[in-house]
Amino acid sequence: MKNKKYNLRLLENKVCVIVGAASVRSIGYATAALFAAHGAKLVLLDVVMNEQIAADLTTSLAHEIGHTPELIAVKCDICSAADCDKAIQAAIAQFGTIDCLVNCAGIVKSSGMLSITEQEYDTMLDVNLKGTFNICKSALKIFTTNQSGVIVNLASLAAQRGGGLVGGAHYAASKGGVISLTRSIAREFAPFGIRANVICPAMIETNMLDGLTAAQLKDVISTIPLKRVGKAIELAGSCLFLASDLSGFTTGATIDVNGGIHIH
Ligand SMILES: NC(=O)c1ccc[n+]([C@@H]2O[C@H](COP(=O)([O-])OP(=O)(O)OC[C@H]3O[C@@H](n4cnc5c(N)ncnc54)[C@H](O)[C@@H]3O)[C@@H](O)[C@H]2O)c1
Repeated sequence: MKNKKYNLRLLENKVCVIVGAASVRSIGYATAALFAAHGAKLVLLDVVMNEQIAADLTTSLAHEIGHTPELIAVKCDICSAADCDKAIQAAIAQFGTIDCLVNCAGIVKSSGMLSITEQEYDTMLDVNLKGTFNICKSALKIFTTNQSGVIVNLASLAAQRGGGLVGGAHYAASKGGVISLTRSIAREFAPFGIRANVICPAMIETNMLDGLTAAQLKDVISTIPLKRVGKAIELAGSCLFLASDLSGFTTGATIDVNGGIHIH
């Protein structure tokens, strides 16, 4: 009989909510594919989700992993607490429970501090920080009832080094908040068997890097010890570790996925 300790399907039948997975180039999508390959049932949320995107994602995931994953895709704006509650309820209606939340939703804008308007600041904080708070809160309502659950949030190198290679002060501040929020969740909910960890990526090849010119990208790569940008699947690998029992004793941690550009 197979020893369960060495079961390589790390998320067998786990219901995993992944936010920010609408683009096939995104970290959220790569995470969805890897999780489905490890047996997870997927709840894919995004503010731009619609029937066409949902159908395309299903086809693409099936092609990638060799079978059609069990999934629902729901339009959800994480800036709205009501939307988040509704999306989690849709997951419960479909699958009966949720086991894991990976929040990859986010926006970025590169601007100097003095050119960031009040409106731009509010929008950045609304999506990246309040949105993370909202979706975590909706998931935690279920996790506390279940006395188990795992949260993985995505922050950024920008929060650690005083601004982004991409992203202004408002982006960095919002991601600093995500680190603090995740640590608070980890401490408050550990007694209920719930873990929460945060990842700080840098220079992962997704739509988010599209704003850089080829020359800017070359300059940045020259400063990365691994001398390349990261792949979305390499970020997904860290999400898999943090979502699975492999990291069962890890909570409140900040994991760097940055090619060595910030070693501290
Ligand atoms: N790519 C990088 O180099 C990098 C570096 C540091 C941090 N990050 C972080 O990683 C996460 C994933 O980024 P990505 O590179 O895959 O970007 P991406 O732009 O490909 O994906 C982000 C997704 O979030 C969705 N989204 C935006 N606002 C939303 C809202 N209000 N509600 C729900 N969904 C919303 C978008 O529609 C998009 O599909 C983000 O939080 C980003 O800040 C990325």
